[in-house]
Amino acid sequence: MKLLISLLALSLIITACNIPPPSDGQYSGDNGLFEGNTEAQEASIHTNFSKHFMIGTAVSAKQILGGDRSTLDLIKKEFNAITPENIMKWELIHPKPNVYEFKAADALVNFAEQNDIFLVGHTLVWHHMTPDWIFKDDAGKYVSREVLLGRLEEHINAVVGRYKNRIDAWDVVNEALNDDGSLRESNWLKIIGEDYIEIAFEMAAKAAPNAKLYYNDYSLTEPKKRRGAVRLIGSLQAKGVKIDGIGFQGHYGLTWPSLNKLEDSIKAFEKLGIDIFISELDVSVLPRGGENQLGADISLNIEIEDKLNPYPRRLPPVIEAKLARRYHEIFAVLNKHRDIISRVSVWGLSDENSWLNDWPVKERTDYPLLFDRQMKKKSFVSSLHLAK
Ligand code: GLA
Repeated sequence: MKLLISLLALSLIITACNIPPPSDGQYSGDNGLFEGNTEAQEASIHTNFSKHFMIGTAVSAKQILGGDRSTLDLIKKEFNAITPENIMKWELIHPKPNVYEFKAADALVNFAEQNDIFLVGHTLVWHHMTPDWIFKDDAGKYVSREVLLGRLEEHINAVVGRYKNRIDAWDVVNEALNDDGSLRESNWLKIIGEDYIEIAFEMAAKAAPNAKLYYNDYSLTEPKKRRGAVRLIGSLQAKGVKIDGIGFQGHYGLTWPSLNKLEDSIKAFEKLGIDIFISELDVSVLPRGGENQLGADISLNIEIEDKLNPYPRRLPPVIEAKLARRYHEIFAVLNKHRDIISRVSVWGLSDENSWLNDWPVKERTDYPLLFDRQMKKKSFVSSLHLAK
């Protein structure tokens, strides 16, 4: 009887989600979700992707300093690239004038070096998580272009210079564009002017000539923003500024962005001849908190309601199957372009750690990552490298 009920449930899930049956050996899971063969299930994620691109994750201060060996062991087994989730953001690494907090960053750099993991520094110039003091003088007035450039150069020399030849790549500028592709009216733009972006890249290149230098942003799959980013990078290249790559943050949902938009953007940036990668992938299964949640504007904070938090205890199998299918569809596009994609990094290790539990609505339960709350690898992960 039990078996009959399970079989019935399984066929319902398969029908509901229109998942292809395990016919060609690629989808061999017996639970209705995609699973790789036993060898792929036992291998680490980055081993499965060794012919594709690097597979990365974001690491928190708690993980790197918390003394929990098993989490760090899991990270080094499964991933061959890491990005500090928050550790190197200005307000944490350089909270006050002349005060630098390098403890967590040093530990992260040592960890990456000891385990031969590609390390991305994140991030030098951003409008969030950047303390107000850098833009103001003692009287609280905005500083001049020269003063701000001086502070930026000091910061870049101190942070990028400290880890010269030890950090492989830097997200130099994060989120400089509005959704319509124009330049964001940040304090950087208002005080320095449009050339703050090229100046930041030049300063970073001087402080670490061997590091790869990237521009990183969300919603790059949206045509207007994509065009803005292509314009921006093209203009840097025309001026001879060193820029090596574009990071699509990749904060996605079950139904957006469309796969066509993702592919169109990959092709658009391919023409620029730079590295293309997904820098912060996660797939939210929760309802959007309004139209604005398409991007990743961290200043959003929407009131919680039950309907916005539909799975507080567990993810129903039907939604789990949708998540599996969506991850497979996204990776089908990425795998197809693996000759030009250098890395895919997910934004956190397990669902428990995800920022999406608190954004854009606080205290929800989301399931966006590759490991569940028990640190178990989700069953669809072992066949992601086969998706096509
Ligand atoms: C943006 C930033 C990341 C992080 C996320 C939210 O994507 O680039 O550093 O703050 O928002 O976690």
